Amino acid sequence: MKIIQITDLHIDDEEAYPFDIDVRKNLLRILTYIEKYKPDHLVVSGDLCYRDPKPEIMQWVKEVLDFSGLEYSVIAGNHDDSEMMAEVFQIKHLLNEEELYFAKRIGKETVLFLDTARGFLSAKQSNWLKRQLKNAGSDVLIFMHHPPVKAGVAFMDNRYPMQYLDKVQQIFFDQPANVHVFCGHYHVEKTIRLKNLTVQITPSCFFQIDQQSPEFKVDHHRIAFREIVMDNQIMFSTVRYFNGSKK
Ligand SMILES: [Fe+2]
Repeated sequence: MKIIQITDLHIDDEEAYPFDIDVRKNLLRILTYIEKYKPDHLVVSGDLCYRDPKPEIMQWVKEVLDFSGLEYSVIAGNHDDSEMMAEVFQIKHLLNEEELYFAKRIGKETVLFLDTARGFLSAKQSNWLKRQLKNAGSDVLIFMHHPPVKAGVAFMDNRYPMQYLDKVQQIFFDQPANVHVFCGHYHVEKTIRLKNLTVQITPSCFFQIDQQSPEFKVDHHRIAFREIVMDNQIMFSTVRYFNGSKK
């Protein structure tokens, strides 16, 4: 079973080039590579929109993803709006109040998709997560936008970490399964392990952030996707980089 994850697209208005980057071309380019890998599923793990959530931007992303012919799931990041996403992607049945979280069967795995658009999990979503984890097998795959750990990335850890980290981590620690979280938000490539929790941060399709600098600093402009293959209880996780498009 093969899943490909892309994250932090930060698509801007037509003819807009944030940081002189052609973010629309970046998405189109990376999708042409992804199609060759023939994944069973593509996950877009949040921050579809550049700064403010806009339905016309989400609509453009939806059309591009639909055109790829890939099966895919989208979740919201802090620059998205979950209700808007549910409306545009026609998945309103997956909305729980204003959050968009759900479980999906992909191959032999039940994969969980969380909503951290507001920077935290509501009590309702936390209870849903606990119930899902209770029924899970020995390994659980979870996609969410925010890393549920501090990641040793000074700028992001200080300014934009997920809220109530202790609480969300405790949900994972309280059950015996190995929890594999795939996320984005930080614009870096990184793996963090804490008890039964392994967090893999996937680089952005926009630019990557310097991991040492306490101030905002771009590290480089290569973009990437993550390929996750589950094969007889072995998991392969590979990040592949491509040149990004400057204006
Ligand atoms: Fe983000």
